[in-house]
Amino acid sequence: MATQAGEVRRVACLTPSFALLAELDGRPVAYVVVRIMAGDDTWMAEIETLSVDVAHRGRGIGQALMRAVDERLESLQIRDAVVAVVSTNTGAIRFYERCGFTVYQHDLYRRT
Ligand SMILES: CC(C)(COP(=O)(O)OP(=O)(O)OC[C@H]1O[C@@H](n2cnc3c(N)ncnc32)[C@H](O)[C@@H]1OP(=O)(O)O)[C@@H](O)C(=O)NCCC(=O)NCCS
Repeated sequence: MATQAGEVRRVACLTPSFALLAELDGRPVAYVVVRIMAGDDTWMAEIETLSVDVAHRGRGIGQALMRAVDERLESLQIRDAVVAVVSTNTGAIRFYERCGFTVYQHDLYRRT
């Protein structure tokens, strides 16, 4: 177990996960956190979180941030990307569809 934990830590340090911040007039208005992880036989990216300040939504900032993510992934030669979105977040689903994502799997379990 200790060896596995060490390996996980080592991989986590080595993988180039990243975060990007979008600024407007010097003020932060949006951010995205992207985790790089091992896929089946290559590396893949997971959009961990992406958020645009509510006052600045619907102006293309999210899409611009995703373009910057794509550029970074391209430089890392990573093509595969996934994102988890709850089914009630219809705005985000539409957003990711506009960014080229399609449904891959549904498997969110909840206990209250
Ligand atoms: C989802 C989110 C990141 C979109 O950012 P944004 O800057 O408002 O999006 P954009 O202006 O770049 O919109 C791009 C496209 O997404 C679609 N879209 C974005 N928000 C939408 C909404 N609430 N409802 C429907 N479509 C939406 C639009 O169709 C738009 O395409 P079009 O105008 O060319 O038709 C932003 O609404 C947000 O921060 N939401 C809360 C956090 C969240 O849910 N994050 C995603 C889960 S990780």
